[in-house]
Amino acid sequence: MSENQLNSKKKGKQKRWVIPKEILDEIDKNPNFKSNSSDIINRKNNEILDLVNETRKLFEKGDFINSAKLFRLLAKETREIQYKCEKKGEYDERNSLNNLTGKEWLRHTKSWLIVDGKPSDIPKEIKNHPASYPPALARHFIEFFSKEGDWVFDPFLGIGSTLVACRDLDRNCFGIELNPEYASYAQKRSVDNQKTLDSFFNKEESKTQYIVINDDCRNTVKIWKEMKLPKMKCVVTSPPYWNMLGTSRGGVKSALKQRVEQGFDEKYSDDEKDFGNIDDYDKYLNNLSEIFSNISQIVEKEGYFIIILQNIRDKEGNMRPVAWDFAKILGKNLSLKQEFIWCQDQKFMGIWGYPTTYISNVHHHYCLVFQNL
Ligand SMILES: C[S@@+](CC[C@H](N)C(=O)[O-])C[C@H]1O[C@@H](n2cnc3c(N)ncnc32)[C@H](O)[C@@H]1O
Repeated sequence: MSENQLNSKKKGKQKRWVIPKEILDEIDKNPNFKSNSSDIINRKNNEILDLVNETRKLFEKGDFINSAKLFRLLAKETREIQYKCEKKGEYDERNSLNNLTGKEWLRHTKSWLIVDGKPSDIPKEIKNHPASYPPALARHFIEFFSKEGDWVFDPFLGIGSTLVACRDLDRNCFGIELNPEYASYAQKRSVDNQKTLDSFFNKEESKTQYIVINDDCRNTVKIWKEMKLPKMKCVVTSPPYWNMLGTSRGGVKSALKQRVEQGFDEKYSDDEKDFGNIDDYDKYLNNLSEIFSNISQIVEKEGYFIIILQNIRDKEGNMRPVAWDFAKILGKNLSLKQEFIWCQDQKFMGIWGYPTTYISNVHHHYCLVFQNL
């Protein structure tokens, strides 16, 4: 769109660009788009146009690296708008797995996805947790492996990213977290999030439930029985990646050193029940596999487990294929269906082994998909 096609108007000192009404009307009339597309575009308009301006400014200054970064972000935001505006086709009544149309279903079956958190607007309680995932990642799986009103379980709830995703998608959530501080923040997030969404959509009090228990997930079945909860449709979770927290890669600006400087938690806890504190690798894998085999009792027959793990380097610098080893062990009790790769594209790059040793920046995780037998 050329500058001539855009009207400019002054808002305070800032120049704002407005997409002309004729263009928005045309988009609303397009048979491939929803009739409220202009509302969706208008809500995102300023953000998108700021990105356009910033990208251009950086390009004109010759800062091609940062200009390219913003350009990628712009592309992502624009694709997101397209996804929200386009008509998704008919919902098939035979769909017993989720609430997706064929087109939405297809989008979810690609075996990788890029999801990054937004570092600029995350509160300190989220930053304090050493390894939370963005709710958008959990949403991707919950949308596919459950329907509205179903129950989703996270035995390693952390600060509640799975719970936030459930709230966005009208699913019930049951979560267990060992560290009381994280559990209490997860609980708080569910309430805050509920209020915001209810006032936004002007909904009546939500009927979905969010249950956060501060305990060891080894007690899952006992807690579930005591609370008389229904069976879970799916499990979406990420256990500690063995004892990798607290392992510095030794670089001048290692993530661990930066966290220590900023006063954030370096590890989840000192509790011996914490899976991140099991030093023996085989014991860690076997205990973890036992937990999930046990949890299968509270999951519906043929329900899915999405377990997010990473292959890591141990304290001696040796490669430990945690995700692969775990898939092999748990695969004896649950049916291993597939792997998704979660990629992080905006994560800090460290120059760890330079100039002598190959140490990669591992910015991908395995989302292992198992099915209950
Ligand atoms: C990778 S983090 C999960 C982060 C979570 N997905 C989020 O986004 O907030 C693993 C979590 O497991 C918790 N944990 C470790 N051992 C546990 C246990 N035995 N029972 C319950 N939670 C445990 C840790 O305290 C940590 O918060």
